[in-house]
Amino acid sequence: MEKREQVFIANQWINADQGKNFDVFNPAIRRHIGHVPDCGRAETDRAIHAARQAFETWGVLLAEERAKYLHDFHDAIMDHRNDLAEILTEEMGKPLREAKGEIIYGASYFKWFAEEARRIFGEVLPSLRSGTQSVVSREPIGVVGAITPWNFPSAMIARKLAAALGAGCTMVIKPAPDTPFSALAFGDLALKIGLPSGVLNIITGDAPEIGKALCESPDVGKITFTGSTGVGKLLAAQAGAHMKRISMELGGNAPFIVFDDADLEQAIKGAMLAKFRNSGQTCVCANRIFVQKGIYDDFAKGLAAAMAKIQLGDGREKATTQGPLINQAAFDKVRALVEDARANGAEISTHGAHVGTDGMPSKLSQDGLAKHGLGGDMEGYFHPPTLVSRARQNMRIYREEIFGPVAALFPFETEDEVVQMANDTQYGLAAYAYTQNLGRAWRLSRALDYGMVGINAGVVSHVRAPFGGIKSSGMGREGSHLGLDDYLQVKHTLFGGLDA
Ligand code: SIN
Repeated sequence: MEKREQVFIANQWINADQGKNFDVFNPAIRRHIGHVPDCGRAETDRAIHAARQAFETWGVLLAEERAKYLHDFHDAIMDHRNDLAEILTEEMGKPLREAKGEIIYGASYFKWFAEEARRIFGEVLPSLRSGTQSVVSREPIGVVGAITPWNFPSAMIARKLAAALGAGCTMVIKPAPDTPFSALAFGDLALKIGLPSGVLNIITGDAPEIGKALCESPDVGKITFTGSTGVGKLLAAQAGAHMKRISMELGGNAPFIVFDDADLEQAIKGAMLAKFRNSGQTCVCANRIFVQKGIYDDFAKGLAAAMAKIQLGDGREKATTQGPLINQAAFDKVRALVEDARANGAEISTHGAHVGTDGMPSKLSQDGLAKHGLGGDMEGYFHPPTLVSRARQNMRIYREEIFGPVAALFPFETEDEVVQMANDTQYGLAAYAYTQNLGRAWRLSRALDYGMVGINAGVVSHVRAPFGGIKSSGMGREGSHLGLDDYLQVKHTLFGGLDA
């Protein structure tokens, strides 16, 4: 499969009306890798129109028929997983192995929702009066506008699209400008499986204008968004003005708690996954690592040793285990958070190795931040794996989402104290805790104000489990049997006169 440089509307590849494009870069080498159309309201309105027309027939297909398309989608993704992973790594930077994992993870949602689509059941209520019958049915919402992120540019589309199509909705997708090619590849897959025209439309361009067009159109029934809390609140307000359904999967500030009684080896393994997956660029990444005083030194030592094994480099190199950050702004933000922690008294150390252009790793020096950051001897937006020891609540890192490979360790003494700190945030997406005390594990699962909790587990996401947050981390759930609900509306029909 090739990178597509046009947008996908009603099964046609087209350019922006004014012929304008914007450039896309590989963040590992900071080089131009292509361009895509810079569309605005006019093209978005056409995509919405195509989706609305397609809904008339897609929404009334038998569940089995929709399920067949979803199974075909799954198979097409799996058949092309290597190409799709290469496209993903080139535009986003994550190591090829992780990119393949993401593609397979995304495909699993098509299989899952193909099956769930057959289970969109209604209810027949006990009659209140003779000759009457109340029936509750669940119907597709209609056209869905999806605004998707760059950190999982394939799987986050798959998770939304598979649920929407399974429910009987059609979709207009606006991918992140950093990673449009993984999104546009879904157009090719749609053509390969013969998806009816207009069921899926993908449009790139002016984010505020496209977002506004989606929120304002009377033909769009729902907006689903994954991204920052700031943009999510803006979209929620715009969609709310038109009383649209919304699903928001927003930012996080995940606590990762290690108690004295934790299995140290497992806790370090879990922290490596929860912190460094995707270079620390996931909404569910461990942001504040709270470590009880009795185990603090051993954990810090063990974590540093594990971090030393990270190999930073171009995701296309075999030896690479950590890629770059997505762009300059992301790099600057992470650096600023580390510098703020340093200025406020934290100890900072960098770890890991650098994979050179010859594919061979060499040790990162202690001044890795200056040396290997942008402008250093690595071309891309690389931030070294960084340990922030003895972090405190007055640091920005305590409140703000890092979205980078920076592990901030906060010492604590008691369970009550750490639960209070863990919940002391506007966010409520994911939380993690390591303990071998069963009673404590249960108490934590109840006490942590989060949509997802991992107890002795550093990754909580999988296709059967509901993904989503509370508080400023958003609303709605993706995946699991609940995932379809976000694309369905409930209708009650009261039949009278049945005793006539
Ligand atoms: C995300 O960071 O938004 C998604 C991560 C996941 O599905 O595990």
